[in-house]
Amino acid sequence: MTALKRVGVVGCGLMGSGIVQVSAAAGIDTIVREVDQPTLDKGLGRIKKFLEDGVAKGKVTAEDKDKTLAHIRGTTKLEDLAPCELIVEAAIENIAAKREVFGTLDKITKPDQVLASNTSSLSITEIAASTSHPERVLGLHFFNPVPLMKLVEIIRALPTNDAAFDRAKGYVEQIGKTAVICKDTPGFVVNRLLVPYLLDAVRLLESGLATREDIDNGMKLGCGYPMGPLTLLDFVGLDTTYYIANIMYDEFRQPHFAPPPLLKRMVLAGYMGRKSGRGFYEYAKS
Ligand code: 3HC
Repeated sequence: MTALKRVGVVGCGLMGSGIVQVSAAAGIDTIVREVDQPTLDKGLGRIKKFLEDGVAKGKVTAEDKDKTLAHIRGTTKLEDLAPCELIVEAAIENIAAKREVFGTLDKITKPDQVLASNTSSLSITEIAASTSHPERVLGLHFFNPVPLMKLVEIIRALPTNDAAFDRAKGYVEQIGKTAVICKDTPGFVVNRLLVPYLLDAVRLLESGLATREDIDNGMKLGCGYPMGPLTLLDFVGLDTTYYIANIMYDEFRQPHFAPPPLLKRMVLAGYMGRKSGRGFYEYAKS
Protein backbone atom coordinates (compact mmCIF):
# COMPACT_ATOMS: atom_id res chain seq x y z
CA MET A 1 0.00 0.00 0.00
CA THR A 2 1.50 3.33 -1.00
CA ALA A 3 1.67 5.91 1.78
CA LEU A 4 -0.79 8.79 1.48
CA LYS A 5 0.72 12.23 0.84
CA ARG A 6 -2.32 14.46 1.15
CA VAL A 7 -5.41 14.08 3.34
CA GLY A 8 -8.37 16.41 3.78
CA VAL A 9 -10.51 16.82 6.89
CA VAL A 10 -13.93 18.50 6.94
CA GLY A 11 -14.49 20.08 10.36
CA CYS A 12 -11.97 21.20 12.95
CA GLY A 13 -14.01 20.59 16.11
CA LEU A 14 -13.01 18.20 18.90
CA MET A 15 -12.78 15.16 16.60
CA GLY A 16 -11.74 16.91 13.38
CA SER A 17 -8.83 18.72 15.03
CA GLY A 18 -7.61 15.41 16.49
CA ILE A 19 -7.80 13.72 13.07
CA VAL A 20 -5.87 16.64 11.54
CA GLN A 21 -3.22 16.39 14.27
CA VAL A 22 -2.60 12.63 13.96
CA SER A 23 -2.50 12.83 10.15
CA ALA A 24 -0.01 15.70 10.16
CA ALA A 25 2.07 14.01 12.87
CA ALA A 26 2.45 11.05 10.47
CA GLY A 27 3.99 13.40 7.89
CA ILE A 28 0.88 13.69 5.70
CA ASP A 29 0.05 17.13 4.26
CA THR A 30 -3.33 17.79 5.84
CA ILE A 31 -5.85 20.38 4.70
CA VAL A 32 -8.71 21.14 7.06
CA ARG A 33 -11.85 23.05 6.21
CA GLU A 34 -14.09 24.88 8.66
CA VAL A 35 -17.20 26.94 7.97
CA ASP A 36 -15.64 30.28 8.94
CA GLN A 37 -12.29 31.74 10.04
CA PRO A 38 -13.04 32.11 13.80
CA THR A 39 -14.15 28.44 14.04
CA LEU A 40 -11.09 27.38 12.05
CA ASP A 41 -8.76 29.42 14.27
CA LYS A 42 -10.30 27.86 17.38
CA GLY A 43 -9.73 24.34 16.01
CA LEU A 44 -6.16 25.05 14.92
CA GLY A 45 -5.53 26.63 18.35
CA ARG A 46 -6.70 23.38 19.99
CA ILE A 47 -4.10 21.39 17.98
CA LYS A 48 -1.31 23.83 18.88
CA LYS A 49 -2.24 23.67 22.57
CA PHE A 50 -2.32 19.86 22.60
CA LEU A 51 1.13 19.74 21.01
CA GLU A 52 2.51 22.39 23.38
CA ASP A 53 1.12 20.46 26.35
CA GLY A 54 2.75 17.35 24.89
CA VAL A 55 6.11 19.14 24.79
CA ALA A 56 5.62 20.35 28.39
CA LYS A 57 4.86 16.76 29.45
CA GLY A 58 7.93 15.46 27.62
CA LYS A 59 5.77 13.34 25.26
CA VAL A 60 6.51 15.30 22.07
CA THR A 61 9.75 17.04 21.03
CA ALA A 62 9.62 20.72 20.09
CA GLU A 63 10.96 19.68 16.66
CA ASP A 64 8.13 17.16 16.09
CA LYS A 65 5.56 19.75 17.22
CA ASP A 66 6.88 22.20 14.60
CA LYS A 67 7.02 19.50 11.92
CA THR A 68 3.41 18.49 12.64
CA LEU A 69 2.17 22.10 12.51
CA ALA A 70 4.03 22.64 9.22
CA HIS A 71 1.99 19.82 7.62
CA ILE A 72 -1.35 21.54 8.45
CA ARG A 73 -3.19 24.03 6.29
CA GLY A 74 -6.57 25.53 7.13
CA THR A 75 -9.23 26.74 4.70
CA THR A 76 -12.86 27.81 4.66
CA LYS A 77 -13.39 26.44 1.11
CA LEU A 78 -14.41 22.82 0.58
CA GLU A 79 -12.96 23.08 -2.96
CA ASP A 80 -9.42 23.31 -1.49
CA LEU A 81 -9.76 19.66 -0.46
CA ALA A 82 -10.09 18.58 -4.11
CA PRO A 83 -6.51 17.21 -4.50
CA CYS A 84 -6.64 14.97 -1.38
CA GLU A 85 -6.31 11.19 -1.79
CA LEU A 86 -8.54 10.64 1.24
CA ILE A 87 -11.03 13.07 2.79
CA VAL A 88 -12.38 12.45 6.31
CA GLU A 89 -15.59 14.27 7.17
CA ALA A 90 -15.93 15.17 10.86
CA ALA A 91 -18.62 17.84 10.66
CA ILE A 92 -21.86 18.20 12.61
CA GLU A 93 -23.69 14.90 13.36
CA ASN A 94 -26.70 15.60 11.16
CA ILE A 95 -27.63 13.52 8.12
CA ALA A 96 -28.82 16.46 6.00
CA ALA A 97 -25.57 18.38 6.64
CA LYS A 98 -23.46 15.29 5.89
CA ARG A 99 -25.33 14.54 2.68
CA GLU A 100 -24.71 18.11 1.56
CA VAL A 101 -20.96 17.89 2.30
CA PHE A 102 -20.65 14.53 0.52
CA GLY A 103 -22.69 15.82 -2.43
CA THR A 104 -20.17 18.65 -2.86
CA LEU A 105 -17.12 16.40 -2.31
CA ASP A 106 -18.56 14.07 -4.94
CA LYS A 107 -18.55 16.89 -7.48
CA ILE A 108 -15.08 18.31 -6.73
CA THR A 109 -13.17 14.98 -6.59
CA LYS A 110 -12.47 12.08 -8.95
CA PRO A 111 -13.95 8.61 -8.37
CA ASP A 112 -10.59 7.15 -7.26
CA GLN A 113 -10.39 9.53 -4.28
CA VAL A 114 -11.76 8.01 -1.06
CA LEU A 115 -14.42 9.75 1.05
CA ALA A 116 -14.83 8.80 4.71
CA SER A 117 -17.16 9.90 7.51
CA ASN A 118 -16.28 9.98 11.21
CA THR A 119 -19.97 9.63 12.12
CA SER A 120 -20.58 7.67 15.32
CA SER A 121 -24.16 6.71 14.60
CA LEU A 122 -25.48 7.69 11.18
CA SER A 123 -25.67 5.17 8.36
CA ILE A 124 -22.59 5.14 6.11
CA THR A 125 -24.72 3.53 3.41
CA GLU A 126 -27.16 6.47 3.54
CA ILE A 127 -24.27 8.97 3.38
CA ALA A 128 -22.74 7.03 0.45
CA ALA A 129 -26.06 7.17 -1.36
CA SER A 130 -25.75 10.97 -1.61
CA THR A 131 -22.79 10.51 -4.00
CA SER A 132 -22.55 9.28 -7.59
CA HIS A 133 -19.76 6.82 -6.63
CA PRO A 134 -20.91 5.22 -3.35
CA GLU A 135 -18.29 2.48 -3.76
CA ARG A 136 -15.53 4.87 -2.61
CA VAL A 137 -17.35 5.91 0.61
CA LEU A 138 -16.79 4.34 4.05
CA GLY A 139 -16.66 5.12 7.76
CA LEU A 140 -13.53 5.97 9.75
CA HIS A 141 -14.66 6.33 13.36
CA PHE A 142 -12.10 7.86 15.73
CA PHE A 143 -12.27 8.08 19.54
CA ASN A 144 -11.95 11.05 21.86
CA PRO A 145 -9.25 12.23 22.59
CA VAL A 146 -8.11 11.28 19.09
CA PRO A 147 -4.35 11.78 19.64
CA LEU A 148 -4.39 9.41 22.66
CA MET A 149 -6.96 6.75 21.69
CA LYS A 150 -5.35 4.00 19.62
CA LEU A 151 -8.46 2.72 17.84
CA VAL A 152 -10.16 3.58 14.55
CA GLU A 153 -13.23 1.63 13.43
CA ILE A 154 -13.37 1.10 9.65
CA ILE A 155 -16.95 0.71 8.48
CA ARG A 156 -17.78 -0.81 5.14
CA ALA A 157 -21.07 0.41 3.69
CA LEU A 158 -22.96 -2.02 1.44
CA PRO A 159 -21.38 -0.57 -1.75
CA THR A 160 -17.80 0.06 -0.41
CA ASN A 161 -15.20 -1.51 -2.71
CA ASP A 162 -11.84 -3.11 -1.84
CA ALA A 163 -9.78 -0.23 -3.26
CA ALA A 164 -11.42 2.28 -0.89
CA PHE A 165 -11.20 -0.11 2.04
CA ASP A 166 -7.50 -0.85 1.40
CA ARG A 167 -6.63 2.84 1.20
CA ALA A 168 -8.48 3.57 4.46
CA LYS A 169 -6.76 0.64 6.19
CA GLY A 170 -3.37 1.81 4.93
CA TYR A 171 -4.09 5.30 6.28
CA VAL A 172 -5.03 3.95 9.73
CA GLU A 173 -1.71 2.06 9.82
CA GLN A 174 0.19 5.12 8.54
CA ILE A 175 -1.09 7.24 11.45
CA GLY A 176 -0.12 4.51 13.92
CA LYS A 177 -3.63 3.46 14.98
CA THR A 178 -5.18 -0.01 15.20
CA ALA A 179 -8.23 -0.79 13.05
CA VAL A 180 -11.36 -2.70 13.98
CA ILE A 181 -13.45 -3.61 10.94
CA CYS A 182 -17.19 -3.46 11.19
CA LYS A 183 -20.40 -3.61 9.16
CA ASP A 184 -22.60 -0.53 8.81
CA THR A 185 -24.93 -0.77 11.82
CA PRO A 186 -25.77 1.92 14.44
CA GLY A 187 -22.99 2.27 17.02
CA PHE A 188 -20.64 -0.05 15.10
CA VAL A 189 -18.70 -2.15 17.67
CA VAL A 190 -17.63 0.25 20.43
CA ASN A 191 -20.72 2.42 20.86
CA ARG A 192 -22.96 -0.64 20.51
CA LEU A 193 -21.39 -1.90 23.75
CA LEU A 194 -20.50 1.42 25.40
CA VAL A 195 -23.80 3.32 25.04
CA PRO A 196 -26.06 0.77 26.86
CA TYR A 197 -23.44 0.68 29.66
CA LEU A 198 -23.49 4.49 29.98
CA LEU A 199 -27.30 4.56 29.90
CA ASP A 200 -27.43 1.89 32.62
CA ALA A 201 -25.17 4.03 34.82
CA VAL A 202 -27.69 6.89 34.47
CA ARG A 203 -30.51 4.46 35.31
CA LEU A 204 -28.66 3.41 38.49
CA LEU A 205 -28.21 7.04 39.53
CA GLU A 206 -31.83 7.84 38.66
CA SER A 207 -33.09 4.93 40.79
CA GLY A 208 -31.09 6.20 43.79
CA LEU A 209 -29.09 2.96 44.00
CA ALA A 210 -25.77 4.73 44.65
CA THR A 211 -24.13 8.15 44.48
CA ARG A 212 -22.46 9.44 41.31
CA GLU A 213 -19.04 9.05 42.98
CA ASP A 214 -19.74 5.46 44.03
CA ILE A 215 -21.03 4.47 40.58
CA ASP A 216 -17.89 5.94 39.01
CA ASN A 217 -15.50 4.51 41.58
CA GLY A 218 -17.16 1.12 41.22
CA MET A 219 -16.14 0.84 37.58
CA LYS A 220 -12.81 2.65 37.96
CA LEU A 221 -11.53 0.71 40.93
CA GLY A 222 -13.45 -2.52 40.40
CA CYS A 223 -12.85 -2.95 36.68
CA GLY A 224 -9.83 -0.74 35.97
CA TYR A 225 -11.66 1.61 33.58
CA PRO A 226 -9.78 4.92 33.20
CA MET A 227 -12.97 6.90 33.88
CA GLY A 228 -16.23 5.96 35.60
CA PRO A 229 -19.33 5.99 33.34
CA LEU A 230 -20.78 9.31 34.58
CA THR A 231 -17.40 11.06 34.20
CA LEU A 232 -17.12 9.53 30.72
CA LEU A 233 -20.62 10.77 29.86
CA ASP A 234 -19.56 14.30 30.87
CA PHE A 235 -16.42 13.87 28.74
CA VAL A 236 -18.22 12.59 25.61
CA GLY A 237 -21.15 15.02 26.04
CA LEU A 238 -24.63 14.18 27.33
CA ASP A 239 -26.22 15.58 24.17
CA THR A 240 -23.97 13.44 21.95
CA THR A 241 -24.77 10.28 23.93
CA TYR A 242 -28.49 11.11 23.95
CA TYR A 243 -28.40 11.62 20.17
CA ILE A 244 -26.57 8.33 19.54
CA ALA A 245 -28.88 6.42 21.92
CA ASN A 246 -31.98 7.69 20.11
CA ILE A 247 -30.61 6.58 16.73
CA MET A 248 -29.76 3.14 18.13
CA TYR A 249 -33.18 2.84 19.78
CA ASP A 250 -34.94 3.88 16.56
CA GLU A 251 -33.09 1.18 14.64
CA PHE A 252 -33.12 -1.75 17.10
CA ARG A 253 -36.21 -0.98 19.24
CA GLN A 254 -34.55 -2.62 22.23
CA PRO A 255 -35.14 -1.05 25.69
CA HIS A 256 -31.46 -1.01 26.66
CA PHE A 257 -30.79 1.59 23.93
CA ALA A 258 -33.63 3.87 25.15
CA PRO A 259 -32.27 7.03 26.83
CA PRO A 260 -33.44 7.25 30.47
CA PRO A 261 -35.66 10.24 31.43
CA LEU A 262 -32.91 11.79 33.60
CA LEU A 263 -30.50 11.97 30.63
CA LYS A 264 -33.15 13.60 28.44
CA ARG A 265 -33.98 16.17 31.13
CA MET A 266 -30.33 17.03 31.74
CA VAL A 267 -29.88 17.64 28.01
CA LEU A 268 -33.05 19.77 27.94
CA ALA A 269 -31.68 21.77 30.89
CA GLY A 270 -28.43 22.41 28.98
CA TYR A 271 -26.31 20.17 31.22
CA MET A 272 -24.15 18.76 28.41
CA GLY A 273 -21.10 17.79 30.48
CA ARG A 274 -17.63 19.33 30.44
CA LYS A 275 -18.26 21.55 27.43
CA SER A 276 -21.17 23.38 29.13
CA GLY A 277 -19.55 23.49 32.58
CA ARG A 278 -22.10 21.11 34.09
CA GLY A 279 -23.16 17.52 33.61
CA PHE A 280 -23.12 14.88 36.32
CA TYR A 281 -20.29 16.96 37.81
CA GLU A 282 -19.43 20.67 37.71
CA TYR A 283 -16.49 22.07 35.68
CA ALA A 284 -14.77 25.40 35.20
CA LYS A 285 -15.91 26.63 31.74
CA SER A 286 -13.11 26.31 29.13
N1 3HC B 1 0.43 15.13 24.28
C1 3HC B 1 0.95 13.86 24.35
N2 3HC B 1 0.61 12.99 25.30
C2 3HC B 1 -0.29 13.39 26.21
C3 3HC B 1 -0.88 14.67 26.19
C4 3HC B 1 -0.47 15.56 25.18
N3 3HC B 1 -0.95 16.78 25.10
N4 3HC B 1 -1.76 14.77 27.22
C5 3HC B 1 -1.72 13.60 27.86
N5 3HC B 1 -0.84 12.78 27.26
C6 3HC B 1 -0.47 11.41 27.68
C7 3HC B 1 0.01 11.48 29.13
O1 3HC B 1 1.36 11.84 29.20
C8 3HC B 1 -0.25 10.06 29.57
O2 3HC B 1 0.76 9.20 29.06
P1 3HC B 1 1.33 7.97 29.92
O3 3HC B 1 0.16 7.05 30.14
O4 3HC B 1 2.39 7.38 29.06
O5 3HC B 1 1.81 8.59 31.18
C9 3HC B 1 -1.56 9.73 28.86
O6 3HC B 1 -1.60 10.58 27.70
C10 3HC B 1 -2.78 9.98 29.74
O7 3HC B 1 -2.84 11.38 30.04
P2 3HC B 1 -3.06 12.00 31.48
O8 3HC B 1 -2.25 11.24 32.49
O9 3HC B 1 -2.84 13.47 31.42
O10 3HC B 1 -4.58 11.86 31.74
P3 3HC B 1 -5.37 10.64 32.30
O11 3HC B 1 -4.50 9.56 32.80
O12 3HC B 1 -6.38 11.25 33.18
O13 3HC B 1 -6.10 10.06 30.97
C11 3HC B 1 -7.66 9.94 29.25
C12 3HC B 1 -6.93 10.85 30.21
C13 3HC B 1 -6.70 9.38 28.21
C14 3HC B 1 -8.73 10.77 28.53
C15 3HC B 1 -8.28 8.75 30.06
O14 3HC B 1 -9.03 9.25 31.13
C16 3HC B 1 -9.15 7.85 29.23
O15 3HC B 1 -8.68 7.01 28.49
N6 3HC B 1 -10.50 8.04 29.36
C17 3HC B 1 -11.46 7.28 28.58
C18 3HC B 1 -11.65 7.93 27.26
C19 3HC B 1 -12.63 7.18 26.39
O16 3HC B 1 -13.26 6.22 26.78
N7 3HC B 1 -12.77 7.66 25.15
C20 3HC B 1 -13.71 7.12 24.21
C21 3HC B 1 -14.99 7.88 24.31
S1 3HC B 1 -16.24 7.24 23.23
C22 3HC B 1 -15.95 8.00 21.76
O17 3HC B 1 -15.09 8.83 21.60
C23 3HC B 1 -16.84 7.57 20.65
C24 3HC B 1 -17.82 8.65 20.27
O18 3HC B 1 -18.50 8.20 19.12
C25 3HC B 1 -18.80 8.99 21.35
